[in-house]
Amino acid sequence: MLLELDCVNAYYDKSHVLQDVSLNVDAGEVVALLGRNGSGRSTTCKTIMGLVPARSGTISFKGKPITNKSPFALAQLGIAFVPEDRRIFPNLTVGENLRLAALAGRKGEWTEKRIYETFAVLGERKDKPAKLSGGEQQMLAIARALVANPEIILLDEPMEGLAPLVARSVEEVVRSIRSEGNTILLVEQNAQVAMSLSDRGYVLSNGRVVGSGTIAELRGDEAMMQRYLAV
Ligand SMILES: Nc1ncnc2c1ncn2[C@@H]1O[C@H](COP(=O)(O)OP(=O)(O)O)[C@@H](O)[C@H]1O
Ligand SMILES: [Mg+2]
Repeated sequence: MLLELDCVNAYYDKSHVLQDVSLNVDAGEVVALLGRNGSGRSTTCKTIMGLVPARSGTISFKGKPITNKSPFALAQLGIAFVPEDRRIFPNLTVGENLRLAALAGRKGEWTEKRIYETFAVLGERKDKPAKLSGGEQQMLAIARALVANPEIILLDEPMEGLAPLVARSVEEVVRSIRSEGNTILLVEQNAQVAMSLSDRGYVLSNGRVVGSGTIAELRGDEAMMQRYLAV
């Protein structure tokens, strides 16, 4: 098992958001975190990243506990996070954004040069401040994760807020990252899109895991799909 959450509980102040969340991701899998808005998907990512403390339960990576480690320590271990709000540094150049991420991460086949070969739009802007359109920002956010050469990428709503055509091109990027065998924990609001990109999924509701299985199993459970995903 690459990543494992065992009975994780997390709070915002007194509000008990994640309730006994257990899930796992194997190397090479894309696992979808499904659920309605407010169901706790982002909080799950943030808790893995040590950005929201786990008050109880264990998070392990390759069998070792990583509960409440700092985002920097997690990047060095091989866990990359693309947050909902992207967190681009707009006053740094595209290249500087990438080099910062590379410094925090690990060495590997993803170099700044390969990023520019893969994402031409970033190459064109490498020496310009990262004042980018929504789609370009999302490409940069994903590129920053890749250049850290992670073993798993947590992707929180990569297509959110983008015009349909731009969203499709980001979806294609996620699909190609997947086809290269990368491991991804994917949050995507559109359940059909999420399932088309994933091998397995977990369904969250009110901070609890209420369903899980292969995509075929989830698709077959119409009552659950109706109740928790409204598709
Ligand atoms: N910073 C915060 N402070 C307090 N409550 C929050 C905060 N962020 C999220 N919440 C609450 O936690 C719950 C889960 O939110 P979140 O993990 O963002 O859901 P999702 O990503 O599935 O839409 C929601 O009820 C949300 O209102
Ligand atoms: Mg969210």
